[in-house]
Amino acid sequence: MRVTSTMDVARQLVSEGAREGTVILADEQTQGRGRLGRHWVSRPDDSLSLSVILYPTVRQLPQLNMVASLATVRAITGITGLKPLIKWPNDILLSGRKVCGILIENIFDGPALKAAVIGIGMNVNLDPSYFPEIAATATSLSIEAGRDLSLQDLTARLLQEMDQLYGDLLRTGTVHDSWIPFVETVGKQVRIRSGDHIEEGRVESVDAKGSLILRRPDGSRAALDAGEVTLQI
Ligand code: BTN
Repeated sequence: MRVTSTMDVARQLVSEGAREGTVILADEQTQGRGRLGRHWVSRPDDSLSLSVILYPTVRQLPQLNMVASLATVRAITGITGLKPLIKWPNDILLSGRKVCGILIENIFDGPALKAAVIGIGMNVNLDPSYFPEIAATATSLSIEAGRDLSLQDLTARLLQEMDQLYGDLLRTGTVHDSWIPFVETVGKQVRIRSGDHIEEGRVESVDAKGSLILRRPDGSRAALDAGEVTLQI
């Protein structure tokens, strides 16, 4: 299936009353999008591009990021044996380069949360050197594993891990403890752009709501929300 973006299809399906857990899987996206309005490269046979429709409560919302990123880490390790890490808020890295991105869009009906769409894009057999905008910062599973990988196997494993972790979230209210060991950003010295403002300091932790807890050089602490910032390490 070729679509503009699986996020667009998901939005349409939400408006038509799609069931929770509906998955939109695309062979190709002509207008794949990333966080902060960026373009997302996705190519047939080389990229895994999917969106999942969920109907969480507002309280569960900050944890969706954790569900999606941890499911991705587990799926990659399960299929390839590689050990990815999470760069806060939700980039998945191998050898310090981005192999997968996650975009979560919340859909409101007036003031009420109607649905959340989790979009996951994985560079599976993609060669980033053909794409100048990502050549220096991205990698792919095939490059890291040294062999081509099956999109079907990865998709099946990813959905299975998401299903399990979303179930854990519904049962226990949090997946934070399982997620935090994979967050490479904790302990790092970082520069963060938040609007016009730059924050610098050492990352102390990421709290249960997904906010980055930063210790500034003067000893004060700041909690930074993922929606508003760009992390520069
Ligand atoms: C990011 O790192 O900025 C997030 C990238 C998210 C890309 C995925 S691919 C499937 C879904 N459809 C889109 O248009 N975007 C997400």
